[in-house]
Amino acid sequence: MIADSQLEVKNWFDQTYSKKGFKYLRPVSAYHIFATLLKPKPGSKHLDVACGPGLMLKALEKYDVQTYGIDLSTEAIKQCKSFCPNALVQEGNAENLPFNDDTFDSITCIGSLERMLHREKALAEQFRVAKSGAKVCFMVRNAENFTWKYLLKPMNLYNKKGHQDALNLENWSALFLKTGFQIESVYPDHWPYYKFIKAFFPWAKIDPGKIRKFPFNLNLAYEFIFYLRKP
Ligand SMILES: C[S@@+](CC[C@H](N)C(=O)[O-])C[C@H]1O[C@@H](n2cnc3c(N)ncnc32)[C@H](O)[C@@H]1O
Repeated sequence: MIADSQLEVKNWFDQTYSKKGFKYLRPVSAYHIFATLLKPKPGSKHLDVACGPGLMLKALEKYDVQTYGIDLSTEAIKQCKSFCPNALVQEGNAENLPFNDDTFDSITCIGSLERMLHREKALAEQFRVAKSGAKVCFMVRNAENFTWKYLLKPMNLYNKKGHQDALNLENWSALFLKTGFQIESVYPDHWPYYKFIKAFFPWAKIDPGKIRKFPFNLNLAYEFIFYLRKP
């Protein structure tokens, strides 16, 4: 059964972070690409929605911005507070953000929007708390990717308790536009490519913060990176 309550999703993430901690997620270096896209100005305010244990917030430390994080999971926030002691983080639901309108210069929501039970509500909240002109970055799962389309979904192997889900490029784009965001650019998730390079050419030097052009159709991407703006 797919998770039908927020508590079920929260419990699943609490248990996963307690058991696996950072091993459940990518390393900090995988988050530099989002910071490259946003180029946050020193002194600006950044919010990471569904911050988990704080990998995105850690990647932003060198930019000298005031970082804020929010996550449903008590365990994620506990780990985040010790990993990123300078960030202002709190437990909470992305569908009801505890911030005033027009507060943030930039926002990220990485690998998490598809985990939210009411994603339109969560998006409307991010739009509300973003300043006019704010830069916003999402990483979201592609429903057309081979793994999702032919393995996880048809074989019923996807994670239901953690509310795993996916949409295609057209549907994600429509959702962001409907909320009011402008789409500046869309990229394929670069991390699977780096994992491939590391496995077969371990001596190769990789800059995971660099935005690259790939010679394949965007629809094949494992996940999409959307770079948006609030007009
Ligand atoms: C796959 S993890 C990604 C965490 C983090 N963004 C990262 O990339 O390291 C998904 C996160 O979404 C959080 N989450 C799911 N639904 C949420 C909601 N409604 N409000 C806030 N956080 C939520 C979970 O607790 C979990 O930490």
